[in-house]
Amino acid sequence: MRKTIVAGNWKMNASKDFVDTLVDGILSGMSGVSSEVILCAPFPYLSQVETLIGGTNLMLGAQNLSAKPKGAFTGEVSADMIKDFGVGHVIVGHSERRSLYGESNDVVAEKTKAAIDAGLTAILCVGESLEEREADKTEAVVAEQLNAVISLVGAGAFDGIVIAYEPVWAIGTGLTASPEQAQSVHAFIRNLLANSNDKVAQKIQIIYGGSMSAENAADLISCPDIDGGLIGGAALKADDFLQICKAG
Ligand code: 13P
Repeated sequence: MRKTIVAGNWKMNASKDFVDTLVDGILSGMSGVSSEVILCAPFPYLSQVETLIGGTNLMLGAQNLSAKPKGAFTGEVSADMIKDFGVGHVIVGHSERRSLYGESNDVVAEKTKAAIDAGLTAILCVGESLEEREADKTEAVVAEQLNAVISLVGAGAFDGIVIAYEPVWAIGTGLTASPEQAQSVHAFIRNLLANSNDKVAQKIQIIYGGSMSAENAADLISCPDIDGGLIGGAALKADDFLQICKAG
C-alpha cells in the first residue's frame, strides 16, 4: 500500500511573516492528516521552516539543487547545503525550470543523480505542454523525460524517488487534468517503470500537479495510480492546503 504524499511548492512566494503565518496555520490543522506532508520552501526560508516544523510530522523540501557537489558555481546551491537545513526532498525538473531556465532532460537527470547520491528524495517532475498533448505526444514526451533519468541512474534507483506528473497546461491555469486523463498518464508511467523493474514500479509514489485544489483533490487522489499531489497556488493558503492533505 503506497502512502499518499501532499507536497506544497511555494515557488517564489514568501516573506518571513508570510512563512510564520502559513506554517502556523498548517500546523494547527494537522490532526487527522494521514498523508506525508512536505513543504517545499524557497532557499532563504529553509532555516525558518526547519525551526517551525521541528518535532512535528511535517517534512521539509527544496525546489531545486545544483547538479554539482561543490565549488566555484556562483549562485548555485548544492545537495549537501540543503541537507544541512533538514531538507529530505527536492523538486527536480519542474516545468518552470525546464522552460524558463533551459533545463534539458540531461540536466534534470544529472540533478536527480545529485539528489540520490546525497541521500535526498527527488520529486522528479514530468509532463507535456498543451501543444504536445494536442499532437498526441503526451506519452512520448513523458517517456523521453523519464528515460533520460533511467539511463543515468537505472530503474532501481527510482526506489528513492517520487515522480510528479504535471501537465504544463494545467499548471497555474485553473485547468486541471480530469481524473481519467491524469490516471491514464500515471498508469503509463508505472508501466514504463515496470518494464525495467516491477518491484520499484509498484512501490513508487506518483503524484499529480496542476491546479489541484480543495475541490478536485479527492477525485484525483482516489484514482488507483495517483498517490498524492504537488500543489502550487493552493499550498499558499493553509485552509486549502489542509483540505488537500485530508483528501488523501
Ligand atoms: P498550481 O497548483 O498553482 O497549478 O501549480 C502546480 C505546480 O506547478 C506545483 O509544482
